[in-house]
Amino acid sequence: MRIVEVRHPLVRHKLGLLRDAATAPSLFRQVVGEIATLLAYEATADLELADAQIDTWAGPLQVGRCDQSRITLVPILRAGLGFLPGVQVLLPNAPVSVIGLRRDETTLQPHAYYQRFVRDIAGRTAILIDPMLATGGSAIAAIDALKAAGVARIKAIFLVSAPEGLRALEARHPDTEVYTAAIDERLNDHGYILPGLGDAGDRVFGTPEG
Ligand code: PRP
Ligand code: URA
Repeated sequence: MRIVEVRHPLVRHKLGLLRDAATAPSLFRQVVGEIATLLAYEATADLELADAQIDTWAGPLQVGRCDQSRITLVPILRAGLGFLPGVQVLLPNAPVSVIGLRRDETTLQPHAYYQRFVRDIAGRTAILIDPMLATGGSAIAAIDALKAAGVARIKAIFLVSAPEGLRALEARHPDTEVYTAAIDERLNDHGYILPGLGDAGDRVFGTPEG
């Protein structure tokens, strides 16, 4: 499985702001968005361009155009919504498909509660968006659903990834291309990433933990 850990100094600086437990939801959301843009920039480095002919002041010119109709952005609800606007800075016209998954904090198994994919999703490149890859269960369930719907290629963007989640994802979907700002140390006994960010959904939405 291709795994790109983006260790750009600005990404590491911004991640440090997110790891600070004192960072309020407003700044947390802003910085999550900024990192999402930087990760999306890396994740789209090999997108194919279509040739287009334009007229310039100096005459006709062939330019490259990104065909966003071949892409779909797929945030995993809820926390993925906090990540979405930062990706849309670069791909503002890519249609959005959503999948709602909630991890049962006892069994650590994801439970699907909502799914709405763009109608013609088959053959598209899906860019899966979630701040956290912990056990990997949620990402695997989302990719199972995307492949069942006929998606051709999957790129996944995570703020923070646990080694356990990367191993699980590689075992089930080795063709996934992963872009992450950090591969952290490990999961704790409750399936939370160490050092991680805590509960990303609660921090994005300002809801009390638990
Ligand atoms: C978090 C996170 C991932 C998932 C990661 O969501 O945003 O989707 O946990 O854990 P996993 O890799 O072990 O599956 P959560 O289920 O807490 O839902 P929320 O986004 O609604 O808070
Ligand atoms: N979900 C989160 O939001 N954080 C973790 O560390 C693990 C799962």
